[in-house]
Amino acid sequence: MPLDGFKRDINYLRISVIDRCNLRCTYCMPLEGLRFTPGKELMTPEEIGRLVRVAVDAGFTKFRLSGGEPTLRSDLEQIIREIRSVDGVGELALTTNGILLPKLAPALADAGLDRVNLHIDTLNETRLRQVMRFNELSQVQAGIDAAEAAGLTPLKLNTVVVRDLNDEDVVHLAAQTLERDWHVRFIELMPLGGGENAAYSRDRFVPSAQTRALIEEKFGALEPLPVLNPSDESRNFRIGGGRGVIGFISPVSEPFCGNCNRMRITAAGRFHLCLLHNDEVDVREHLRSAAGEERLRELLMLAVGRKPSGHDLAAGVSNELRTMYQMGG
Ligand code: 5AD
Ligand code: SF4
Repeated sequence: MPLDGFKRDINYLRISVIDRCNLRCTYCMPLEGLRFTPGKELMTPEEIGRLVRVAVDAGFTKFRLSGGEPTLRSDLEQIIREIRSVDGVGELALTTNGILLPKLAPALADAGLDRVNLHIDTLNETRLRQVMRFNELSQVQAGIDAAEAAGLTPLKLNTVVVRDLNDEDVVHLAAQTLERDWHVRFIELMPLGGGENAAYSRDRFVPSAQTRALIEEKFGALEPLPVLNPSDESRNFRIGGGRGVIGFISPVSEPFCGNCNRMRITAAGRFHLCLLHNDEVDVREHLRSAAGEERLRELLMLAVGRKPSGHDLAAGVSNELRTMYQMGG
């Protein structure tokens, strides 16, 4: 059991496989000035397999692939097969904007993927273009349908709430859970990446309490659901009589750092210790050969041991280096 310096059991590894994306969500990717990791520096399927083997040996059981947009990796299926071939891998999930799922979902499920989280900020066509820039409702719907048809369920939809953009669309999104068994989760905007990006996110921040109040105005008091997994960062509810789940992820107003169970690795092979700090441990060179495995194991445990206890946003400390597309969600 990999315990960190604060006795948290760190057993969940989120692997970013690429930092490119086919969308440009306002709070994540500016339209200009982006610099991507060159293809030859990305972790290969074999290296990811090696990483996962070492992580499972260390006690990790849960894995998630993220990006950027992981479906832009043409060898994603192979990555999934590599991970699935490791004994001891429990749940394997993927975070995606869903655009390429109509093409890929059956093959990804067949390779051993369990579920997907779909990122969708609004069901309003005009505002979808404003927030996610190049997305269209028809694509969103096709992605959802493909995920469900391939059995990549239970389906979780992630919505980042942005003031004056989609902060009122949360009601319509929440309403989807009346008829469908989806988990619709509203995420507080985190000030990532320093500079203009962080300033934008601070300015457009909406606390979960406000999102919840708007939903309750329409549907009445939400019913709290029992906590099944203490490391679940989402506080879960149901609309009375509804089928699905409504979750609030509140890293800024109500941090769940005390229950954090995750480690992240960037697409270029650097452990990133906490979304809201800069600290990283580079392990790229040790991933390259079986000879590096021992050192990789040591560095994984070092990275776990160095995880900060929590964030210091109130003191103005954040992550100045990377936004979400460079770390994985
Ligand atoms: N704050 C909170 N969530 C974010 N995401 C991307 N950027 C941010 C941010 N600044 C979310 C996306 C996606 C997941 C990978 O992270 O919605 O679902
Ligand atoms: Fe792409 Fe996700 Fe970033 Fe949007 S939030 S630009 S979908 S990586």
